[in-house]
Order: sequence, then structure tokens, then C-alpha cells
Amino acid sequence: MTSQTLHEPAIELANLCKVYSGKGGSRLQALQGVTLAVRQGEVFGFLGPNGAGKSSAIKSIMGLITPSSGSVRIMGQPATDPDSRQPVGYLPENPSFYDTLTAEEYLLFVGRSFGMKWVTLRQETERVLKLLEIWDARKRPLRSFSKGMVQRVGIAQVLVHDPAILVLDEPMSGLDPLGRALVKEIILDLKSRGKTVFFSTHIIADVEEVCDRVGVILNGELRAVEEVREVMAAGVHGYRLKIRDTESGEIEEVTIHRPALSGYLHGLTPRKEILLMEPVRRNLEEFFLELVKGAAAPGPEAM
Ligand SMILES: Nc1ncnc2c1ncn2[C@@H]1O[C@H](COP(=O)(O)OP(=O)(O)OP(=O)(O)O)[C@@H](O)[C@H]1O
Ligand SMILES: [Mg+2]
Repeated sequence: MTSQTLHEPAIELANLCKVYSGKGGSRLQALQGVTLAVRQGEVFGFLGPNGAGKSSAIKSIMGLITPSSGSVRIMGQPATDPDSRQPVGYLPENPSFYDTLTAEEYLLFVGRSFGMKWVTLRQETERVLKLLEIWDARKRPLRSFSKGMVQRVGIAQVLVHDPAILVLDEPMSGLDPLGRALVKEIILDLKSRGKTVFFSTHIIADVEEVCDRVGVILNGELRAVEEVREVMAAGVHGYRLKIRDTESGEIEEVTIHRPALSGYLHGLTPRKEILLMEPVRRNLEEFFLELVKGAAAPGPEAM
């Protein structure tokens, strides 16, 4: 890495727009001026409902669709240059691979196409097949794989060439709970090794657990970019209290909105004992729902 690229965003979208043209001259604006810089070494969650434009943005990064206007840069290099994707590993949504190959053959193929040396490639293929728990199935053709197993191969093929930047379109999709937990662990491990991870999801809990920042996209517009820690720490909006009636021994639990708290406390008679009082914070889910409810019509407008 040169000193010039050290401070470049890993991925930079500038005023990205995408209009899909359909039959009969219909046009659908899937991305509306998305501007975003994903920093090197961060885990960035790209959150949005179905049809929000997540995959369109990701496909623009990967050069799989051509933006109608705006630009994408990867480590400062325009994404129109295929070489810019050399440091990038990509997991498509609904991956489908050459299904006559075995899982092992497919990983060897991916590694070779990234120019990996044979000995390292063999070692890494074994490591990632074991990591994703598909080692026992490695000699089977991919067409015999279940949906979740294909997803695991998809993640394995990203990891095998050890890219600096990982672009993952719904990496937890189709995985069982153990698989999801494993992928979260893998993402955290990647972060600890200084990798940049940009992934889309609808699952808010996944963002809470692994992301440094979150971007929320609605109807093709990026509505918010926030530090996850700050969203979680900000906004104590109420208090949960556990109150015991000292005469009857009855215990009651109440949640009081912050502005109403002092009035509530003043109204307590001396026979009420406060056993517990804890803040209720706005979590990422509430933050997301507030944005979604505040948005105009669901789904992008046909033009
Ligand atoms: N090839 C295409 N031709 C026409 N419209 C498309 C095409 N691909 C996507 N769209 C439309 O663009 C909008 C954004 O789709 P996109 O796939 O980017 O959403 P998404 O956020 O990835 O959704 P999901 O969570 O369902 O994967 C949708 O309205 C979709 O119907
Ligand atoms: Mg998608």
C-alpha cells in the first residue's frame, strides 16, 4: 500500500444513480444520488428493505451493472477499471456457481483466477472448506448442494484468496443459526486482521453485532449513515422500573417515557419501594423503523 492509498476510502460511491429501463419504455430509478465512503478496515452494514437498491449499489461496485450517472472508486481507482477489483472478494446474492464442479474444484478455480500460488491455494482451500464446515462434501458436485451449503461455498470462495476488501450481498442469507453465528465470527476475525467488509442485509441484529457503521438505504436513497455504537448509546427514551408494594408484597414492572418520569416518581406513595430502575435506549431496530416509517411510499417510483 502506498502512502497515497493509505487514506483513500476502500470504497467510494459518488452521486451514484441507476435507472433500469424496462419493456414499453418504462423506467425505474433504483439508485438516486448515493454518496458514501467506506473506510479502510471498517465493517460497514448496508441496511434496507427489499427493493431498496442494495444489490444495485453492490453490482455497481463490482462492475456488473453500469451506473446511469455518478461514479465508484475502489481504493481511489475508478471501478470502470477492472484492475480496481483485484483486492476485492465478492459474494453475490443468490450465488450460483459452475455446478458440475465440486466445491474443492471451484475454490481452486477461484484461487487460480486470482493468481494464487498452487501450494498456498491448496492450504487455503482446505482451511476455508473446514472453516465453513463443508470439508466432508468437498468432492461432491455443487449441483447436489443445498441452498445453505451453496451459500457456504460462496463465503469460502471469497475467503480463499484473502482479499483486502470483502463485498458481501446478504452473507447470512439461507444459513441456519449456527451458520449465521459462524459468519459473524468470520467477519469479526476479518476486521481484527484489518480487512474492510461491506455487506448488505435486512437483519438488524447482524448489523448491531458486527458493524462499525451502518448505512440505511430506502427507495434508492441513502437516508442515514451512523456509527452503530453511537446509535446504540444515544437516545435514552425511557426507564424501566420494578416497584414493590411493601404492604402487599406485590411487584409491578412499568416502563415510563423520559419526560413523564419525574411526575411518576412524585406520584409514588411511601409504601412503594423502587427495586430497579434502568434506562431504555433506542436500539438500531427502532432507529431503522423510525427512518422507514418516515420515508414516503414503499418501493421506488416508476418514472
Ligand atoms: N435488472 C433489473 N431490471 C429492472 N429493475 C431492476 C433490476 N434489478 C433491480 N431492479 C429494481 O431495482 C430496485 C432495487 O433492486 P435491488 O435488487 O437493488 O434491491 P435490494 O435492496 O437488493 O433488494 P433485496 O433486499 O430484495 O435484495 C427494485 O425495485 C428492483 O425491482
Ligand atoms: Mg438484493
